[in-house]
Amino acid sequence: MNAGTPLPCVALLSEVLDLGYLANAFRKEFPGIDLRMGNDVASLGPVEDVDVAVCWFPPHGLLAQLPKLALIQSLAAGIDHIAADADLPRDLPLCRIVDTTMAAGMKAYVSWAVVQQHRGMAAYVASSAAGRWEEQPVVSPRHHRVGIAGLGTLGMACAEALATIGYQVRGWSRSAKTDLPEGVQSFHGDDQLGDFLGGCDTLVCLLPLTAQTHGFLNASLFAQLPRGAHLINVGRGDHLVEADLLAALQSGQLSGATLDAFSVEPLPADHAFWREPRILITPHISTRTDPAVIAQQTLSNLAALRQGERPRNLVDMARGY
Ligand code: GLV
Repeated sequence: MNAGTPLPCVALLSEVLDLGYLANAFRKEFPGIDLRMGNDVASLGPVEDVDVAVCWFPPHGLLAQLPKLALIQSLAAGIDHIAADADLPRDLPLCRIVDTTMAAGMKAYVSWAVVQQHRGMAAYVASSAAGRWEEQPVVSPRHHRVGIAGLGTLGMACAEALATIGYQVRGWSRSAKTDLPEGVQSFHGDDQLGDFLGGCDTLVCLLPLTAQTHGFLNASLFAQLPRGAHLINVGRGDHLVEADLLAALQSGQLSGATLDAFSVEPLPADHAFWREPRILITPHISTRTDPAVIAQQTLSNLAALRQGERPRNLVDMARGY
């Protein structure tokens, strides 16, 4: 922000998360900023002041009741949690956050998930605890093919990290990409999806959740993977048809799944996934966005808009990401 420009009024909206940590970051980055938190108009205070809403599952209908709103900012890479609001003011600019610390966290998680399954690390946790010296097959990364579905900033970062380790990496995206990291084989569109899947010993889903990708991870897709493939879902729970995953694991078509996102979070205690030993569950922790970055990008996006410039990571609502 330029010196002398008054700080905007920012509403932090989430029905599922306590955004106190984010409020602290905004106050630290921008002392004196007017912050509002609440799940309805009454608790937000005078709504005609609010310039920006920073959201993670905002209460449906609330954004449409903020008359001066100039920017909707997702605090995450995904925007499905905002687009699900039937009353969303779709003509307002909507931005998401992607930054290098978020990409670093995702690279670390996906590399771990690939390695832990490919090298049979769970068996070492057990043998080490039992005091047994016991080898699992050691297969070089160059004989293991990893496919990344979704080549946005995070998908590209993971492809590069895995290729650097020495895995055979391939990527698939809806439209053709030209800027793939060296050594990464590129596939795109429905026509090339089958060829892509046929060479994935591990498949990583990093797609945005849109109407087209809802249920993408289903029985027909699993059938196109090599037998015994491993699935990693770090996209959204709704990419996955849960019953199809359980069936594919039971039949041996898939050997395991590492899941970080679920249709219902927290995953209910009685969910069948907890009782399937071939599924490794993590509670949506694959990466996190630095709250200081959220605060800075939010205010710089608003400043850009006010100067008639394009803000960072502006979402194309027709495309859905
Ligand atoms: C988290 O899930 C994100 O969308 O960044």
